[in-house]
Amino acid sequence: MALEQIAKPWLFLAPMAGYADWAFRELCYGLGAEVTVSHLMPAEGFAGRPRRLLAAFGRCHGERPFFVQLYGKYPEHFQRAARALTDALPLAGIDINMGCPAQRVVGSSHGSALLREPERAAAIVAAARAGTHLPVSVKIRGGWDSCVAPEFARLLEEAGASLLTIHGRTREQQYRGRVDLAMIAATKRAVGIPVVGNGDVVDVATARAMLATGVDGIMVGRGAIGNPGLFAELRAALKGEPRYLGGHEVSVELIRRHARLAWQEGGDRAFRDLRKHLIAYARGSLAAAQLRKGVERVSSWPALEEWLDEFAAAPRLPCPGPRAAPSSRQARPDF
Ligand SMILES: Cc1cc2nc3c(=O)[nH]c(=O)nc-3n(C[C@H](O)[C@H](O)[C@H](O)COP(=O)(O)O)c2cc1C
Repeated sequence: MALEQIAKPWLFLAPMAGYADWAFRELCYGLGAEVTVSHLMPAEGFAGRPRRLLAAFGRCHGERPFFVQLYGKYPEHFQRAARALTDALPLAGIDINMGCPAQRVVGSSHGSALLREPERAAAIVAAARAGTHLPVSVKIRGGWDSCVAPEFARLLEEAGASLLTIHGRTREQQYRGRVDLAMIAATKRAVGIPVVGNGDVVDVATARAMLATGVDGIMVGRGAIGNPGLFAELRAALKGEPRYLGGHEVSVELIRRHARLAWQEGGDRAFRDLRKHLIAYARGSLAAAQLRKGVERVSSWPALEEWLDEFAAAPRLPCPGPRAAPSSRQARPDF
């Protein structure tokens, strides 16, 4: 399905290496997320031996809009990768990472390092466009150490980008401080293409604040970890869809659903990857510390059921208040 067929504001699940895998994306679609994006993948790899990487991808998501995200620095890699992906997978578009702040990524002039190389960034977008008929989107931060996003965004639009996502922090800020909504609003005003706002959306109030910047959609990352039902709440509050009102709290059934999807994809291996999600689901439980320790034993269905018994027996905190996103340190194992 093309993005234009979905009523605004669009609700995106953020790319999150180590968390937003196929199973989590499927879970979030089921709870109301409308668009998802893969974690960053090397454009160079797709240009070289795409079959191995395509296999590593797992499945796509049927009709639901799904973007594959690429990183790299050579325009020709993006052109070849965009072509290989377009031929092989039913995608809604190709996303280009120009926001990753991790040292090992920017150290090779990838990710947010491209914010300092606007000409190369524009050439990358133009090359990706030349490789696909699909929309090409770009995920940026506000700048390297100061805000350059409005001019940078205009350049990307001229180069052929069809959509931009902006995380309202600079690279220097990493995940510190609060997201800068004024920077997002200025970027939206600077371009004619749709803009998705990203950063610190953890509940309906923060989503509304993000939408007040004028963006066309919001992208939720850490706020969905341990709380994927946030999408259901957002669908109900922002789009008035009553069918999303109930049954999305973190519950034994929701966790089982997540585990079934993960197992479908990875068999028993999936339990290990599920553990960090279980820890996140246990937030808000009075027995969180105990449950955290218990996840080490979760390596099979019976072990998961035992953990779920403990989870169900533990009282939840009476009034959790607005949910805080897990800190970037808690939720950034491979990024
Ligand atoms: C564990 C983790 C992995 C991430 N991986 C990616 C990635 O592969 N590509 C990307 O563009 N952003 C990645 N991000 C950044 C998020 O997509 C998002 O921009 C950032 O977390 C801010 O949004 P939030 O406040 O809603 O979490 C990652 C973030 C986290 C926490």
